[in-house]
Amino acid sequence: MKGCYCDSCAIIMTSTLKLMQERQSVRAPFDPDCPIADKDLKQILEAARCSPTPHNMQNFEILVIDDHDVLTKLGSIESRVTEVFLRENYQQLSFSKKELLRKKIGILGTEFPSSFRDPSMFSKVARECPPMPLDQTIDGSPVVLIVIYDSRKRAPDSEGDVLGLVSLGCVMENMWLMAQSLGISVRIMSDFGDKIVDKEVKRILHIPDHMNVVYGLRLGYPATSLAKNLRVRREVKDFTHRNDYDGKGIE
Ligand SMILES: Cc1cc2nc3c(=O)[nH]c(=O)nc-3n(C[C@H](O)[C@H](O)[C@H](O)COP(=O)(O)O)c2cc1C
Repeated sequence: MKGCYCDSCAIIMTSTLKLMQERQSVRAPFDPDCPIADKDLKQILEAARCSPTPHNMQNFEILVIDDHDVLTKLGSIESRVTEVFLRENYQQLSFSKKELLRKKIGILGTEFPSSFRDPSMFSKVARECPPMPLDQTIDGSPVVLIVIYDSRKRAPDSEGDVLGLVSLGCVMENMWLMAQSLGISVRIMSDFGDKIVDKEVKRILHIPDHMNVVYGLRLGYPATSLAKNLRVRREVKDFTHRNDYDGKGIE
């Protein structure tokens, strides 16, 4: 077996894994008066630049929003919760810490309003729940990165451009890990990709029609001390299959 186990490689390996293990979604409000230093922002964008993409397509553009007035305009865009979201979100919820620790997948239901946890209410909630301004998720962030891609292109022969879309996830992870290593907190905002929100974001930021908004990434420093999230993961043996789907997982 080849591989370098010298002291400096061992340190890099340990710290890379530690960085990945400690990366987390920070949903607390950010301090609007605590800006992201330009040199840190550039490092995060450099991390995006290094991302792997199919055929090195580099199929992404990133809008860096750090102007207070533009952030305010984006914050006023309203998104609506759909019944589909409520139903599919419900499938990922656990209703106690014990249940979540047992399942090792999903999130705690208490992270959502109680009406999101009652399937008998979903149609009514989707119909009557007031629209939510994006400001509630931007929540004080001094910088929002918006990742967009050209919907007219795709990775060669990739049905539904699955491979192209995967690479937008690589961009996300590279930037997230870089931010984490700089002590900057991150939250992904999927609502930026919502059809109605996408249209408004395009209008405000003059993004051409053929470019699709995939997600927003808010960066910042928490305004309050962080509550410890209960974060669970399956064990490696639970998702690996040695040599055959029926093969034993790697311990
Ligand atoms: C593609 C993608 C979309 C996500 N969308 C959101 C989102 O809209 N809001 C949010 O708070 N977290 C979002 N997340 C974060 C996940 O909920 C989170 O990664 C997961 O619960 C694991 O928690 P951790 O990031 O703290 O490890 C998203 C993550 C990914 C990869």
